[in-house]
Amino acid sequence: MGDVLELASVRVVRGNKTLLNDLSWQVKEGERWVILGPNGAGKTTLLQIAGARLHPTSGVAGILDEVLGAVDVFELRPRIGLASAALANQIPEHEKVLNVVVTAAYGVTGRWREQYERDDERRAFALLDAWGMSTFLNRPFASLSEGERKRVQIARALMTDPELLLLDEPAAGLDLAGREDLVQRLSDLAASDAAPAIVLVTHHLEEVPPGFTHALLMRDGGVVAQGPVDQVLTEENLSTTFGLPLSLSKQNGRFSAIARRA
Ligand SMILES: Nc1ncnc2c1ncn2[C@@H]1O[C@H](COP(=O)(O)OP(=O)(O)OP(=O)(O)O)[C@@H](O)[C@H]1O
Ligand SMILES: [Mg+2]
Repeated sequence: MGDVLELASVRVVRGNKTLLNDLSWQVKEGERWVILGPNGAGKTTLLQIAGARLHPTSGVAGILDEVLGAVDVFELRPRIGLASAALANQIPEHEKVLNVVVTAAYGVTGRWREQYERDDERRAFALLDAWGMSTFLNRPFASLSEGERKRVQIARALMTDPELLLLDEPAAGLDLAGREDLVQRLSDLAASDAAPAIVLVTHHLEEVPPGFTHALLMRDGGVVAQGPVDQVLTEENLSTTFGLPLSLSKQNGRFSAIARRA
């Protein structure tokens, strides 16, 4: 009990390329993970496995006490909230903000059915309100700024009251104020007992929200280090991960990293 994710020796191979190489990783209830690694490290691929969107070529992926391959993924997916650029790209341009969130209850993008339960609309509204988007309900998704879109996507990911929340680069493309606002909101979410287990992918140490408990560092489809944030986010581990000598600092619970000067 308590295992949200239990990946054992997971490999993903496409053609002659190994995207994930013998990766083992456990996420338990209540944990908040950040995944860091350079472009192409396999972070999005790993999130696709964790989100039951992709099956491993070999190894075992346990998700919410089910085993991928031995469970109906259409029953599993609503238990997992996912926000990613790939998913955002599937949202029809003219889709209204409220509908973007409501449709998550049915695991679809695009409002196919006309009759939604009032409860679903109420929940979608409450989530949009919590993420500062209550005045945008009837705006087409495509008309929103990048920061507004990101908050709608997170509200959408939370719509099914998931047991696991997966966020792939939620702060990408945000300006400084937008990033800081999002980091604060994610930090508040992380502090909530009612929140699901969270896995957040980012490229930037500055985007690690205070209160996140664990970190997974990836490079070339494998794990450089994983464990509690303060043990894993070290200059040595980060330098290995990004292939560059780094100087790390931490202030008021926030990390930042710059290249180390010779
Ligand atoms: N179908 C595929 N066939 C071959 N290679 C693939 C395929 N899909 C992804 N890849 C490669 O797998 C590697 C890992 O991709 P992935 O998207 O998981 O990386 P990432 O860590 O999320 O990178 P980024 O930080 O740029 O988002 C990349 O080199 C990518 O080009
Ligand atoms: Mg990616």
